Amino acid sequence: MSKKLKIVILISGRGSNMEALINAAASPDFPAEIIGVISNNPDAKGLEKAKEKNIKTKIINHKNYDNKQDFETAIIEYLALLKPDLICLAGFMRILSSDFIKHYPNKIINIHPSLLPKFKGLNTHKRAIEAGEKESGCTVHYVTPEMDAGPIILQRSVTIESGDTEETLAKKILEQEHKAYPEAIKIIHRNLL
Ligand code: GRF
Repeated sequence: MSKKLKIVILISGRGSNMEALINAAASPDFPAEIIGVISNNPDAKGLEKAKEKNIKTKIINHKNYDNKQDFETAIIEYLALLKPDLICLAGFMRILSSDFIKHYPNKIINIHPSLLPKFKGLNTHKRAIEAGEKESGCTVHYVTPEMDAGPIILQRSVTIESGDTEETLAKKILEQEHKAYPEAIKIIHRNLL
């Protein structure tokens, strides 16, 4: 596939990984374009950043729906308008149902702040330090119904120093996340050739 991948990014908060993808896509050589950002959180800081960069944004607030299925149907309906090739979760804090995930086989990817399969779920940095790990990092992976367990596309690691705290480790890993996510998109595009 030589044409650019059309990407929609799902966020819930700060949106720094979203921003890294938008910035990467600003380069003419990057094999993808960001065609929209969806946030479940109307107050997500990332929404402002996306708007500043002239990316179409959409709030689909889970609190406005009676149940998860209706919330996910609203996302599916909006995605049907945008027709993305790839859906990138970037700090999206809702767990998607397996029905939703099965609706988009091999089309949903996520970035997770640990070297999976270690430290699935939340509070990864604290758990990595407490476990006495010498390294941690980030993983970009396909999303499958089992949480944080889908096929790995790419990982980047950092050394955990003896003085590292949850905050310093988070900062070091976030820098790697911002490199890893655009790199993973390049890998996916290359594999589709
Ligand atoms: C990142 O650490 C990401 O790995 C995790 O949530 C955080 C989101 O940060 N899934 P941001 O919203 O991209 O700044």
